[in-house]
Amino acid sequence: MVLLAATACSSSHDGNAVADGPTAGPAKGTITWFANQFGPTDVDVRKTLITAFEKANPGIKVELEQAPSNSDTFRAALTGQIFGGSSGFDVYNGDVTWPAQFGKAGLALALNKYFPASYWKTFSPGLVDSVTYNNMIMGAPLFTDHAFLFYRKDLLEKEHLPVPTTWEQMQRAAQKLQQDRLVKYGFAGQWASYEGLTAGWTEFAADAGARSVNQAGTKATVDSAASLKALTFMRGLITKGIAPQAITTFKEPQSETLFTSGQVAFERNWTYAYADANSPASSIAGKVGIAPLPTFAGQPGPGYSVTGGWNMYLNPHSRNIGASVAFIKWMTGAQAQKTLATAGGEIPTNASVLADPTVQASNPAYPIAAKNKLRARPSHVVAYPQVSQAIYRNINAALTGGASLSRALSKASSAITSALGNSGL
Ligand code: GLC
Repeated sequence: MVLLAATACSSSHDGNAVADGPTAGPAKGTITWFANQFGPTDVDVRKTLITAFEKANPGIKVELEQAPSNSDTFRAALTGQIFGGSSGFDVYNGDVTWPAQFGKAGLALALNKYFPASYWKTFSPGLVDSVTYNNMIMGAPLFTDHAFLFYRKDLLEKEHLPVPTTWEQMQRAAQKLQQDRLVKYGFAGQWASYEGLTAGWTEFAADAGARSVNQAGTKATVDSAASLKALTFMRGLITKGIAPQAITTFKEPQSETLFTSGQVAFERNWTYAYADANSPASSIAGKVGIAPLPTFAGQPGPGYSVTGGWNMYLNPHSRNIGASVAFIKWMTGAQAQKTLATAGGEIPTNASVLADPTVQASNPAYPIAAKNKLRARPSHVVAYPQVSQAIYRNINAALTGGASLSRALSKASSAITSALGNSGL
């Protein structure tokens, strides 16, 4: 039997319709969790968490189904299966950028009715809002992601260079370290044509004072002088040989490998990269510093970090909602969130776990994250997949040298305009 979600609607507190969904049922049996790996590469924290959950809940078994690590590829796999009515998995992990699209398309069950109001108060401020579409709480926040500047502490000390707080300073320090043959490259990030580039672009653009879409989500604003400044700087890192030409094909693993093999001085990456850089497999363990991202000279620091992270969503076709709800609840509770932070190197979403002094002391990323300046990608629009694609395809073309910078921005602008025009909010 296939359960059809979002057919029934009830009234929420403020009178708007909320997709009701089937009742939960008993919390027992086997469920499948469709999730990509998160946290450090050498410890699969998903498995640690499943083992602990099963110990605490002997009536429930969780099977792990490996999902693609690339956010876009994972989303395509999910949408195909859910639209096809698949009940092959119950709970799935999904990016923070998905709630609007998934809410509009009914790709996840609204969680409102399965958890009391007190449950939603356990999350850090703003998180529940970020997963809410049209009063439907589309997912439970599992972990938050920020971007940081990872740097070679040993090399900066050797050359008496400060930790850069502006991009221009980062560029000069990188060039100095390259000239002195201490590293091959100065900077690595994720500039391939995929979601990771939309994240990185949003940061550079925000530092220059630009947005790709206006805050109301109704208009493309990417074709601006401030965007051109950001793009010119990014392309300059490549033409000056500070970033390798191949950065335009880098996703997270390639940028990490360049850094952990000691070939690059600075790396923009997500929270877990700190754990990876200091793991036994890293040739630079113990030599790595972490700082907020820089901004452009003349701007108040720090630079912007995009808001990243992953939520747990419920498949509308799940045949075991009771056990799925119990699993989501446990994964967002104190024990799991502490494990996720201390062993998994990810920022917990549970506010009291994040505030716990032992958690704060376990990873220097957490106290820095508290001071980071955040900027969301324009994922509040339901056409976000098309908007993001318009950004990463055109920015990537400019970065490779395949399109002029101003032409890339005007093409991105028209592609965003048509995506917004086609969707309706
Ligand atoms: C990280 C972030 C996620 C982002 C992705 C891009 O997984 O948590 O929000 O979309 O990287 O590659």
